[in-house]
Amino acid sequence: MANSVPKEFDIKEPINHKTYLIDGIISDWKGDYSEVHSTILSDKKNIPHKLIGYTPKMDENYALKALDAADNAYKNGTGKWPTMKVYERINCMQKFVDLMKLQRDEVVKLLMWEIGKNLNDSQKEFDRTVDYINETIKEYKKIDRDGAIFQNNSGVRALIRRGPLGVVLCLGPYNYPLNETFALLIPAIIMGNTAIFKPAKHGVLLIAPLLDAFQQSFPPGVVNIVFGRGREIASPIMKTGKINVLALIGHSSSAISLQDLHPQKNRLRLVLGLEAKNPAIILDDADLDLSINECINGALSFNGQRCTAIKIIYVHEKIKEKFLNEFCKKIDDLKMGLPWENTLLTPLPEPHKPKYIIDLIEDAKKKGAKVLNKRGGEVTNNFVFPAVLYPANEEMRVYKEEQFGPVIPVISFEKIDVPISFMAGSNYGQQVSLFGKSEKKLGPLIDSMVNLVCRVNLNSSCQRGPDVFPFTGRKDSAVATLSVHDALRSFSIRTFVASKDNEINKEILRKLIDNKESNFVRTDYYL
Ligand code: G3H
Repeated sequence: MANSVPKEFDIKEPINHKTYLIDGIISDWKGDYSEVHSTILSDKKNIPHKLIGYTPKMDENYALKALDAADNAYKNGTGKWPTMKVYERINCMQKFVDLMKLQRDEVVKLLMWEIGKNLNDSQKEFDRTVDYINETIKEYKKIDRDGAIFQNNSGVRALIRRGPLGVVLCLGPYNYPLNETFALLIPAIIMGNTAIFKPAKHGVLLIAPLLDAFQQSFPPGVVNIVFGRGREIASPIMKTGKINVLALIGHSSSAISLQDLHPQKNRLRLVLGLEAKNPAIILDDADLDLSINECINGALSFNGQRCTAIKIIYVHEKIKEKFLNEFCKKIDDLKMGLPWENTLLTPLPEPHKPKYIIDLIEDAKKKGAKVLNKRGGEVTNNFVFPAVLYPANEEMRVYKEEQFGPVIPVISFEKIDVPISFMAGSNYGQQVSLFGKSEKKLGPLIDSMVNLVCRVNLNSSCQRGPDVFPFTGRKDSAVATLSVHDALRSFSIRTFVASKDNEINKEILRKLIDNKESNFVRTDYYL
């Protein structure tokens, strides 16, 4: 198997990543290291997991050094970075994205090895992140232009802009270790905040090639990158009370325990992307081919390891048989392969995941479901072939738990109240996919669904993109909204200068603008 690795993607020797970035200095780590294993070539016997590298196992002491660096750079909002001219911050970001682009091949290779994402999707993750940064720069210029206008109301003149919030602790997920982490980090820093960033559980080595770009692009202390376990790094940082924004995409249990450590919770802003259990609802007049294709992609791209994945399917009784037959056939035809073979199904990066998926299948079987597709639940090394479970019911673990993997529970319904009450009773409220044709049926359904979730997808699978659209959720699915525009708002607050409209103030404002004495009170446009 190892011989089948194409030369350009091979990792001959484990990558010894030794460095971290604190206060603008890239230093060598002198302490213990964590091993980074890849599951993609696992054959259980000879290669249980391949060792592909080492990363620093940093501790509380260094976590607090990173916090001090970010805190000093922010200096309660008086530091160089938060008070800098907007275009200077934009120039730093532009430099960063130009340097980042040079690391594309290395990051893409590591995405494949560390999380098993296929080549196309790994390239897409990188390119989407570059686009996201470029769009963020454009959007920030627009927000800045909109803030360059004085308003006058009831004898008070005001210049209202958006200002930073403080020090951000930034923690991303393993399924999008580059893109989603940067979807938090980039808007946070461009708005004038400073940050401490700890890479996800899997997808750590791929951050290493970007350390130089961060160091060369931003002033000391603006971005601090540390490696280690959440418990050693994030917990002590939260306990100090110096974090102003917890930016986390991952599990609600981590978000809750980290919030709880903050001694002054009212000062803590949350930007969270959490779990979801997005249903697909297939009405009796749905176009079957289209619904099946969208459900397969929606449920199984990156093996279902997406918060936006379709995680349960409700199909109308009238078409259930046709739907299930065709759906299962098409799933059984899917190919499993290594990431560079660009198959839809690839190995699961978490060593314990196959067992978890099999446990969900066994639990559902005990409670009355069958695995409908022939290959469902086959396990080879770290691959699990997707299983279609029917009929699922509320007693089953897979009905409630976010499986985040290749298993698809299906329930049939006659009355639309069945999927609606699932959604109303669910802890999650991110998205839904509705499949059908009649506007008479769809209209009222859309009106209910938009208040149960935050995105209703019509005859389309659930997804986050395009990144200019709002990405958020109700209940336990999210706090705050992410999109190119909304993220800039989420990481900032409105702040303004107001003056009674008299001659003295007019004169001061005129001079401030003419002489460019303030980076805040100005009316120029960045093009
Ligand atoms: O894991 C959750 C991601 O935000 C899903 O994003 O729909 O672009 O794959 P995506």
